[in-house]
Amino acid sequence: MRVRVLGSAAGGGCPQWNCACATCRRGHHRLQDSVAVSGDGRAWYLINASPDIRAQLLGTPELRPGPGLRETPVRGVLLTTAELDHTIGLLSLREAVSLVVYATTAVTTALAPLRALLAAYSNVEWRELPAELDLDGGLKVRRLTVGAKRPRYAAEASGDDWVSALRLSPAPPNSDRRSAQRTDASAVARGDRIRTQRSYTNRSFVYATCLPAWTEEFHRFIAGADEVLLDGTFQTDDELTRMTGRPGSAASMGHLPMAESRGHFARHPGTRFRFGHLNNTNDAAGPDVAEDGIELI
Ligand code: MLT
Ligand code: MN
Ligand code: ZN
Repeated sequence: MRVRVLGSAAGGGCPQWNCACATCRRGHHRLQDSVAVSGDGRAWYLINASPDIRAQLLGTPELRPGPGLRETPVRGVLLTTAELDHTIGLLSLREAVSLVVYATTAVTTALAPLRALLAAYSNVEWRELPAELDLDGGLKVRRLTVGAKRPRYAAEASGDDWVSALRLSPAPPNSDRRSAQRTDASAVARGDRIRTQRSYTNRSFVYATCLPAWTEEFHRFIAGADEVLLDGTFQTDDELTRMTGRPGSAASMGHLPMAESRGHFARHPGTRFRFGHLNNTNDAAGPDVAEDGIELI
């Protein structure tokens, strides 16, 4: 399995076009939150479609088109929220011959205006994002609802599954007869292959860049994961007001501050935690902060 960060900023990116704050002026560039995942290194899925999607696709060698004229390794998009910074990139995929988008019913319903726009340009197939899902390239997905915050444009909408965390892992090896026969070909090769496959299959990654609270359910969901990409929107609950004078606590916006998340790491000693979706008020740096382009797995 492979996991690559395509963007590590919250909505607006860094620098934000109309912001002259210290972080934006310092020029630490971050594109908006998105991650590419693949079970086999050939079939890729995007977690969320950021407004920066074109630069993200063109800047990632694994996602470039070919060998066919309109062939792309991008098999689909998994949406974890209906927020604009996670979805309007779909409009930039309108040249697609066909496109598969997975989302919960609440998210798909809220996106009716965007779906109508896209439908005029491309053959988009909207599929339910269930609790468990198998994707091309041997990628397994588990989904957990972590929040009920609606986007501002759908503030009155009904439904429950607004904000999801995803856990991705490769399908178990030797699940088909052909690979079982290949494995039997040579005892030595078999030993090598089983070792390789064991380390390969044990990898798992959790994406949770919009996380309002760290519940017991979330603890169970991430148990044993190798890598977790967490909500790094704000370092503290009062960051937005302190930095910009604008009202709004992190909690009121559905984003658990980094300081609070760090208090939970000790329960998961085998897991590496990193933060993504940094707001441009957040100048956090260090080994637990994701950067654009890094491979998490
Ligand atoms: C969020 O992450 O809370 C949203 O993307 C905020 C927004 O841009 O409206
Ligand atoms: Mn956001
Ligand atoms: Zn700024």
